[in-house]
Amino acid sequence: MFDRIREDIAAIRERDPAARSVWEVVTCYPGLHAIVLHRFAHACWRRGWRWLGRFVSQMARFLTGIEIHPGATLGRRVFIDHGMGVVIGETAEIGDDCTIYQGVTLGGTSLARGAKRHPTLERGVIVGAGAKVLGSFTVGAEAKIGSNAVVVKPVPAGGTAVGNPARIVMPAVPKPKVDARDGFCAYGITPNADDPVSLAIHGLIDHASTQSQRTDEIVAALERLGARVEALHGADGAALVDLKRLCTAMDGQPRDAERQL
Ligand SMILES: CC(C)(COP(=O)(O)OP(=O)(O)OC[C@H]1O[C@@H](n2cnc3c(N)ncnc32)[C@H](O)[C@@H]1OP(=O)(O)O)[C@@H](O)C(=O)NCCC(=O)NCCS
Repeated sequence: MFDRIREDIAAIRERDPAARSVWEVVTCYPGLHAIVLHRFAHACWRRGWRWLGRFVSQMARFLTGIEIHPGATLGRRVFIDHGMGVVIGETAEIGDDCTIYQGVTLGGTSLARGAKRHPTLERGVIVGAGAKVLGSFTVGAEAKIGSNAVVVKPVPAGGTAVGNPARIVMPAVPKPKVDARDGFCAYGITPNADDPVSLAIHGLIDHASTQSQRTDEIVAALERLGARVEALHGADGAALVDLKRLCTAMDGQPRDAERQL
């Protein structure tokens, strides 16, 4: 039990830049208190002590503002930051190393008793403040849910879901390692790799490079056909004359393309 608490504390210190000491984490992080109490509530629930599980869960909610149903399954090093207003439903499953911010609901959209009604978060998912993840689908490993998103459909591993209803805005891209803490980026921000401006500039550079290479190939082909290629870089009139000469040299007759020129 203490090993688990120790790794919970270490995970909080790694993922929250505001956490300055172990003592501060132990005393001032309701997410930690809620997780520890949930472990007790969940153990009661699994032994069939349903009322006691619910009661512990309600006490944890009273103390922390975080409501985790005792039936919910949480992995290791799950971090609920700030936590006020978080609701995690009975059949929700949260994988290792997930991070959940305040106001998140992992809720259901069906009333089918005994069925799985709540989402499954795979390893390393980050759920932004105020997001609602509603339904029994899976959010893939390392996916990110934007603040206030309303997610009603599965999210692929590594994807980013934003908006209401949520749409996937990023394909799965390799996540860069930003530091020794397994690449965790506080608040789900991934420097550089996912930056849309950076991606757009790289796309433009690639495009320009391809175009330049194709232009060189075209010029080489024209030169092989006897065109005076330097003139193509000059005024439009010079280029027109050269193309006319080229077409005439090729078959002795002006062609349709030439006439249009
Ligand atoms: C809104 C709601 C009632 C719709 O349920 P539904 O009639 O079964 O609707 P569907 O699941 O068939 O979805 C219909 C469309 O609405 C969209 N949609 C569903 N729920 C939505 C929501 N909450 N916000 C925005 N869009 C939503 C779906 O994406 C779908 O869009 P599409 O046709 O373009 O694919 C339900 O999804 C919902 O949000 N219920 C509240 C659940 C809740 O608060 N649970 C908390 C428990 S703790």
